[in-house]
Amino acid sequence: MRAVAAMLRLVLLVPWAAGLNFTYHHQLEMETFLRGVEEQHPGLAHLHSVGRSVRGRNLWVLVLGRCPTKHRIGIPEFKYIANMHGDETVGRELLLHLIQFLVDKDQQDPVITKLLDNTRIHIMPSMNPDGFEATKIPNCFFSKGRYNMNHKDLNRNFPDVFESNGVQTQPETEAVMKWIQNETFVLSANLHGGALVASYPFDNSYSDTVTTERYSATQDDDVFKYLAKSYASHHATMSRGISCSTPNVESFPGGITNGYAWYPLKGGMQDYNYVWGQCFEITLELSCCKYPPEGKLKQFWNDNRASLIEYIKQVHLGVKGQVFDGSGKPIPNAIVEAEGRQHVCPYKTNKHGEYYLLLLPGKYKINATVPGVPSKLKQLDIPDGTANLSAFRLDFTFPDFIQTPKELLCPTEPLYQISSSTAFRPTLLLLPLTTLLHAVLE
Ligand SMILES: *[C@@H]1O[C@H](CO)[C@@H](O)[C@H](O)[C@H]1NC(C)=O
Ligand SMILES: *[C@@H]1O[C@H](CO)[C@@H](O)[C@H](O)[C@H]1NC(C)=O
Ligand SMILES: *[C@@H]1O[C@H](CO)[C@@H](O)[C@H](O)[C@H]1NC(C)=O
Ligand SMILES: *[C@@H]1O[C@H](CO)[C@@H](O)[C@H](O)[C@H]1NC(C)=O
Ligand SMILES: [Zn+2]
Repeated sequence: MRAVAAMLRLVLLVPWAAGLNFTYHHQLEMETFLRGVEEQHPGLAHLHSVGRSVRGRNLWVLVLGRCPTKHRIGIPEFKYIANMHGDETVGRELLLHLIQFLVDKDQQDPVITKLLDNTRIHIMPSMNPDGFEATKIPNCFFSKGRYNMNHKDLNRNFPDVFESNGVQTQPETEAVMKWIQNETFVLSANLHGGALVASYPFDNSYSDTVTTERYSATQDDDVFKYLAKSYASHHATMSRGISCSTPNVESFPGGITNGYAWYPLKGGMQDYNYVWGQCFEITLELSCCKYPPEGKLKQFWNDNRASLIEYIKQVHLGVKGQVFDGSGKPIPNAIVEAEGRQHVCPYKTNKHGEYYLLLLPGKYKINATVPGVPSKLKQLDIPDGTANLSAFRLDFTFPDFIQTPKELLCPTEPLYQISSSTAFRPTLLLLPLTTLLHAVLE
């Protein structure tokens, strides 16, 4: 009798032991789950809130890694954000299952173990918890829950690099911007619904009167295409590139698209990350139905699991390293970029003198610049660091550099905005931009 009771208890425990059900987790249930993960995995998981929504709900972030509470030199920071449109719910549940999967496979699966050894992974399951709670029942189509409680679309709420974005910055956006400035994120994805495609920057461009191009390429277009493909090609169906409205019609070759080529938008999060966050972000549209019934969640997890893992590995592409002075002290705010790929707002070293550049394998010249001394240009052949889960390492030393604590600020006004009728390419603006950067310091 006792044995039967024990067995019964065991059977009843199985769903619990398996962790997470394929149901929707509302704010309280989500908090309970995240707290539980942190409690059960001290030293691997760290839960913190980066701010609050309009209604005061916490914007939770669970961090996973060997040192989840803080950055370690050489360990790249990665993030996933879901549910910024409150009625697009698949990503929210996928990220909870991803958390469960990563903590379960740690020390069991060698690849996941190494991924956690070499990466700090930040997961925000909901950027718009108010919108989610406001969307009462599953519904495939648009609902007001898309917006935050001030009726603002958070994916139109960031500073825009091409034109002034006249909207008032929302608390959720403000929190995410502070978070981005606080960490050295290298790679990110932003999970949405309503389509099935991986979209990459830019989402905006010069006004239509200036350019007739239907594609807004960044300086790192090759890398972005590769990143989007790495998600789409590991997904069960995304690479078929079908359109949700007209299935059977291939609208997105390979399951990827340039954001602007799909449809232009102003104030999006992925452009902000790339321009002002030194972080490559893509937008993942994961379901034709925005808020599918719970019964479909398991299938979504199965379709996306491999992609979600594969995409994190891409944070180890390219080259990373530190910039030092003659005494071996790290130099913050040194500009380090690959030749021919200067960013509008130059990518600079963090307070540990570290830089990370996502680049496909191949030959590059890496240019490091600190004020007052000549730049250093190093040529190298970059291997594929994703196989090894560690980017190639290249350090720079400036023996003659005298440390100055000055911080190089980036203007928050549009940088590509055009004053004349001539169509400027971003590269053409780089020279005057140096002047602009210095002017902003005053
Ligand atoms: C999963 O669902 C079962 C059945 O509804 C329930 O008993 C169990 O507590 C749930 N597990 C979790 C972790 O919520
Ligand atoms: C900023 O970083 C510090 C140090 O890692 C951390 O304690 C703090 O919680 C972070 N704040 C935000 C909003 O991410
Ligand atoms: C290196 O970068 C600095 C500052 O970004 C720039 O002025 C210089 O022209 C670059 N040098 C080369 C060879 O690209
Ligand atoms: C893999 O990493 C090791 C050390 O971490 C390094 O020595 C080796 O060169 C790397 N291999 C590749 C292909 O990058
Ligand atoms: Zn969306």
